[in-house]
Amino acid sequence: MTHTAATPMKAIILFDSKTAGGSTEQLIDSIGRKLAETGAYVEKAKCKKTGDYSFVKEFDVVIMGAPIYYLLVSSELLGALLQSNLKSCIQGKKIALFLTCGSPELMANLLYLPQLKLNLIGSTILAEKIFAPNQLSDQSVIANYVEEVNKAYKKNGN
Ligand SMILES: Cc1cc2nc3c(=O)[nH]c(=O)nc-3n(C[C@H](O)[C@H](O)[C@H](O)COP(=O)(O)O)c2cc1C
Repeated sequence: MTHTAATPMKAIILFDSKTAGGSTEQLIDSIGRKLAETGAYVEKAKCKKTGDYSFVKEFDVVIMGAPIYYLLVSSELLGALLQSNLKSCIQGKKIALFLTCGSPELMANLLYLPQLKLNLIGSTILAEKIFAPNQLSDQSVIANYVEEVNKAYKKNGN
C-alpha cells in the first residue's frame, strides 16, 4: 500500500507596522511559530507600497495584516494593495486576514476590515480576526486563529 503524505502548507505572512518589534510584529511571530508547529512552511515579509510581490505566487496561503493608525490600515500594506502588483499576485489565492487595533470589534469589522476585503474580491478568505490589545499576546486566542486558518485550508481542497 502506498501512502501519500499531504504536502505541507506554504504560508507567507505579509504585514506592516510603524513600530519595529511592536505588538503586530510580536503577534505575527507567534502566528508563524504556531503555524510552523502544525507542519507548515512559513515566511514573513514586511510590506512596501512600491514592492514587487511576484514571490508571493509560490505560496499556498497569504496571511495579511497590520495595525490601524488613525482609522486606516497601516499605509504600506494598504498602499501595496492599491499601488503595487500585490493584488494581481494574490488573485485566486487563499487568504487569511488579521488586524490589530484599539477599537471595538464591531467598529473594526465595519470600518477597517473592508479596507482590505474590497481589494480581495475573487480570493478565498480562510479566516479573519481582529486582535484587541489584550489578545495580542494571548496564546490561546492566537492558537484558535491558526487552527481556523488550517481547518479552512484543508476544507478548501487541501
Ligand atoms: C498613532 C496611533 C494611531 C492609532 N489609531 C487607531 C485607530 O484609529 N483605531 C484603532 O482602533 N486603533 C488605533 N491605534 C491602536 C493600534 O492600532 C494598536 O495599538 C496596534 O496594536 C499597534 O500596533 P503596533 O504596535 O505594531 O504599532 C492607534 C495607535 C497609534 C500608536
